[in-house]
Amino acid sequence: NNPPWPAYRGYHEYSFAHATMGVRLPTILGKAIDDTSRTLNEQSNEDKIVDLVQCLERMDLLMADLSGNAKLRPIIDDGEGDVALWNKEIAKYFQGKDFMNAPWLFAEAYKYRRLHECFSVSRYWKDYDVFYRQKCDTFARSADAVFELSMRFAEPFKQSENISEKEKAETERLMFLELTQVCLWGNSTDLSLLINMTEDQIKSLQSTGGEHLAATEKNILGNHMNQLWETVKVLPEKTGGRIDFVLDNAGFELYCDFVYADFLIQSGLAKQIRFHGKRYPWFVSDVTRNDWSWLLNTMVYGHLFPKASEAERESLRRLGARWKQYENDGRWTYEQHPFWCTGYTFWDLHSEAPDLFLHLSHSDLVFFKGDLNHRKLTYDCAAPASIPFDVAIGPMASAAGAPKVCSLRTIKSDVVVGLGDDGDAIAEKLDQEEPGWKISGKYAVVLLSEGRPG
Ligand code: F6P
Ligand code: MG
Repeated sequence: NNPPWPAYRGYHEYSFAHATMGVRLPTILGKAIDDTSRTLNEQSNEDKIVDLVQCLERMDLLMADLSGNAKLRPIIDDGEGDVALWNKEIAKYFQGKDFMNAPWLFAEAYKYRRLHECFSVSRYWKDYDVFYRQKCDTFARSADAVFELSMRFAEPFKQSENISEKEKAETERLMFLELTQVCLWGNSTDLSLLINMTEDQIKSLQSTGGEHLAATEKNILGNHMNQLWETVKVLPEKTGGRIDFVLDNAGFELYCDFVYADFLIQSGLAKQIRFHGKRYPWFVSDVTRNDWSWLLNTMVYGHLFPKASEAERESLRRLGARWKQYENDGRWTYEQHPFWCTGYTFWDLHSEAPDLFLHLSHSDLVFFKGDLNHRKLTYDCAAPASIPFDVAIGPMASAAGAPKVCSLRTIKSDVVVGLGDDGDAIAEKLDQEEPGWKISGKYAVVLLSEGRPG
């Protein structure tokens, strides 16, 4: 049940795995330690202080394991719903492996699980999020793009009365395509890569204007947006209209996901949206339930943007209020299955989390956001760029009951598939002309698999 291509591993010096395992992960862990120390310095209660010092000691041990390329040990039973899955995978495939020679995807996920363990075994700090400050700060520094969208979309989407049915359908199609791109490019600001960005750098990554979107469409190297529209436009007549988002990052990306999901609801294309997030801090910027609530509440009640105009603040409040209403009336729901925080790829989703697979199989369309989800869909292996997406995702396309799957991903790591028959030539040309094209987030894919009815 594996693809025929080798999975990337940390010792593969030609791949981004090497820099990630050797440099990026220790840097990220170092910043997490700084954040925890900052929190420690703000405490007054001795029990809590002592407890947090122990978390810091465990983080130091993890740092030593990571920098010393230690062998992977089982996860301590801290009561999380994923412990059995983790230890089963370690015992079955990765016993005796170390951080560098285990598959990159697994080793990287394992590091975030071990980081969680530093806190989950504590008494007072089980839910502490070492990345929370960063996630909130980056949203606060995204004012321009946030208000560009809120000023445009606070007013509910309404078709003008005086146009023909044909024109209405065309307006809806164009809006759909534009917002698909808003949702897609929202993924380019991910904190694990963009540590220490200036406000101007964030701005240039987040500009959402129409012209900009037309220009960026040519950077979508595998582009199934038209097929995606064909799928979505018939949802109201044909099916129940349930769409799922397997979320990626908190803050600005989640905000863009919400803008898109809001349009899907208002246009009647979807009746219900289910969002899937993480149970604890994951790959720096991924959405947890706290991040979800923080965003909605800060939009309605927060004072994050002191320089904004009253009209801008009001637009954000209106959007936030509408989205909270969707949550209250059950049209939007947040879910957090333990499987999302494991080291398994989605080639194993149907066998290792059959309940989740069954749940997703009831959806009319499942969006997977971002780079990590794409790596997991494609087994994070050296598949050629010409391999069709539905072949690359294996059982997520071919197992009975596989839902329609759409990956919205800006390319930030090695695996690239679904570029069509010329894909290998396109990839080779970019390798020569633009080294680094696979990690810059400048390019993207929007790939659809039709699934297989159960
Ligand atoms: O560390 C590499 C990585 O896993 C890449 O997948 C990507 O660079 C980043 O972390 C996560 O990106 P995203 O938030 O889009 O999944
Ligand atoms: Mg992420």
